[in-house]
Amino acid sequence: MKTAPNAAPAALVIVAHHRADSLTAHIARLVAKRLEDAGYRIDLLDLHGEDFDPRMTVADQPDWNDRDKVYSDETEAHMRRVLDADVVIPVFPVYWYSVPAILKGWIDRVWNYGFAYGRSKPKLASKPRKMLWIGLAGAGADDPLAPVMQESLESGLRDGVSYYGGIAESAVELLLDAEGEPQYVDGDGNFTKGEALTGAARDEHYAALELQAVERVERFLALN
Ligand SMILES: Cc1cc2nc3c(=O)[nH]c(=O)nc-3n(C[C@H](O)[C@H](O)[C@H](O)COP(=O)(O)O)c2cc1C
Repeated sequence: MKTAPNAAPAALVIVAHHRADSLTAHIARLVAKRLEDAGYRIDLLDLHGEDFDPRMTVADQPDWNDRDKVYSDETEAHMRRVLDADVVIPVFPVYWYSVPAILKGWIDRVWNYGFAYGRSKPKLASKPRKMLWIGLAGAGADDPLAPVMQESLESGLRDGVSYYGGIAESAVELLLDAEGEPQYVDGDGNFTKGEALTGAARDEHYAALELQAVERVERFLALN
């Protein structure tokens, strides 16, 4: 007997933070809740919580002569989770204009030859998947380097990872000012730290970041 296909779209929300009580993890849970309310099935992948090992291994090293190579059990399981998803949303703190090591390792091992590239039609292009990268950044919205950071993340993640892997619809959204404590490096290279937000101003600041995260997901996926 044939079983009915599951009509609900699936979202893989990936958390790349070492603290479960971090702002990053909080935003990821909020995003997952919004998607769940919109009817998505949620797979919440907490890379640290699941003890994901970001180090490349021989088992997961591409074999350029075998694009059908079977990778390690861990990597194959992660590939199935990506394949099951209609939308993939990594949520991460921006580290050095890039992603933290644990997320980089996930890309290196899971976004592998024969799976994400190496075929005229990548496996990831098997259905119209979407990918939204949500990066939390310490830089303020008025930091002159913020647009540079945005561009750098777009070329590395949207173009270099999602698009290259067969996911044409992808974007990077930055939540700036994620520390609530302005930090600047001026033209002479001097580092200055502003006053940390406290009390109602702090609550307002974090409420605005939460709203931004939810609104950007709603806009990207045209949720209503
Ligand atoms: C190793 C490291 C590198 C960082 N690099 C950047 C950076 O390149 N740009 C930036 O705006 N913030 C940078 N930050 C600040 C983090 O993005 C910020 O602390 C984080 O998003 C706050 O979220 P969290 O409280 O969930 O950790 C960096 C922080 C660390 C620890």
